[in-house]
Amino acid sequence: MQPARQAANEGSPAPSPATGARSLYDALWKANDAPDDALRLRAAEFIERWRKEMRQQPCDLPNSPDGLAAWQQAQLEATGGAYQDYLAARKAGAPRRYFGSRSHALYFLRAVAPTKLVDGAWLYGLLPGITNPHFNDLIVTYVEELGDGDPDKNHVLLYRRLIDALGIVDWAEQDDETYVQGALQLALAACTESLVPEVIGFNLGYEQLPLHLLITAYELDELGIDPTYFTLHVTVDNAAGGHAQRALRAAVENMPALADDGAFWERVADGYRLSNAGFGTTDAIAAFDGHRELLRVLGGRAAEGSMAHSDYCRIEGRTVNQWLADPEAIDGFVAALERKGWLQRNSDPAQSRFWKLLQGEAASMFGVFGDYELQVIYDWLRGDAAADGAAFVRGSAPTAAAPVPPRAFRHVRRAAAAKPALGLAALADAEVELDADVLALRHVLETGDTALQGATLRRLLGPALHWGPAGLEATRHVSRVLHAA
Ligand SMILES: [Fe+2]
Repeated sequence: MQPARQAANEGSPAPSPATGARSLYDALWKANDAPDDALRLRAAEFIERWRKEMRQQPCDLPNSPDGLAAWQQAQLEATGGAYQDYLAARKAGAPRRYFGSRSHALYFLRAVAPTKLVDGAWLYGLLPGITNPHFNDLIVTYVEELGDGDPDKNHVLLYRRLIDALGIVDWAEQDDETYVQGALQLALAACTESLVPEVIGFNLGYEQLPLHLLITAYELDELGIDPTYFTLHVTVDNAAGGHAQRALRAAVENMPALADDGAFWERVADGYRLSNAGFGTTDAIAAFDGHRELLRVLGGRAAEGSMAHSDYCRIEGRTVNQWLADPEAIDGFVAALERKGWLQRNSDPAQSRFWKLLQGEAASMFGVFGDYELQVIYDWLRGDAAADGAAFVRGSAPTAAAPVPPRAFRHVRRAAAAKPALGLAALADAEVELDADVLALRHVLETGDTALQGATLRRLLGPALHWGPAGLEATRHVSRVLHAA
């Protein structure tokens, strides 16, 4: 199919290899454990497109599994050394390296959400091979990605809670680039039967401890943002006994004794390269542009806004409705609002009439924007001062919202632990089960039909379901069986 499309487009620039990533991601997620043949074919084509793309990149993997232990040790030492240098620089007064402001950090969390919300998925397709001892380390890794069924340790659920708490609600509205990595993970799960070496190589790349994970966790904490999702990966990915070590062992143990091991290793290397494909952490951090994000945030509400204003509101001769009706004009609208004093950059947001429409007692636009979007506007107004990382204070009168630099998250958590607050768990009644899938799962587990039980558990451990109550209960079941084996 690919060559035909290229022929049709002859003369025009080649399509980006990311094209279609979002729709593939959505389709695979929805299909969960049962993608049909057409969808599997699309997934396989996507992987092949990226295999070709990534073969143009250098690969630092050793030529055979014999070199893996030394390779991993050297990587760990390099990462450890670079992190120590980072900490020393920060101690000596260097600014944050990654996040210039709170909205920058939230932008990053939004940009990588499509990847994080399918965390672990590349290993899902190995579940049918659960009895093969060569896959044991990989299966254990998958079940640990799912937190062994503990909702506080399931990586996907942790990430969902994190972005919900931060008011990042529209993460799905992003372009194909941000979906490449997640689409590859889901595609590997859908095609595992024919791509075991690639899955092993992908896992090898994904489970190494990168410098950016350490710095991200450090700077999120500093900004008062819960870094648990990231710190958890520092501990579970550690080389001594964690996922990195398991990844290495799996690569060694799965080398074939009868088939061509050189060709197998080539494919492991392809999978390794795929773990670096698409829009990664450092790309997401580098892509932030506060002004562009402000325009996106305002433009995103333009369609609703163009219906909501009366024609009495005029800015430089055009009604607000006329400004908002033209998405291309948002930049000009912002400039006009600045000239008229509605937006005053590099000053306390309380000075801006526009901010008073969003926050405070007489805020006529209160509730139009979510927390993340408000933070983007707030930081844009504060300009360089936003480097202090202050969060806007929700719902307060503008005059009371003087910026307060954040407290490190670990201090906030320590203070909270000293004075336990009422949590959601205290409100719940453990005797009452309302979830239809949990009830169905319990029913299936009571039957003697082991084939049905297996299929039900495999479905519930799929990327779309494992983080929900039935998925977590199914995972606890599988985890018990796995560790009893
Ligand atoms: Fe994870």
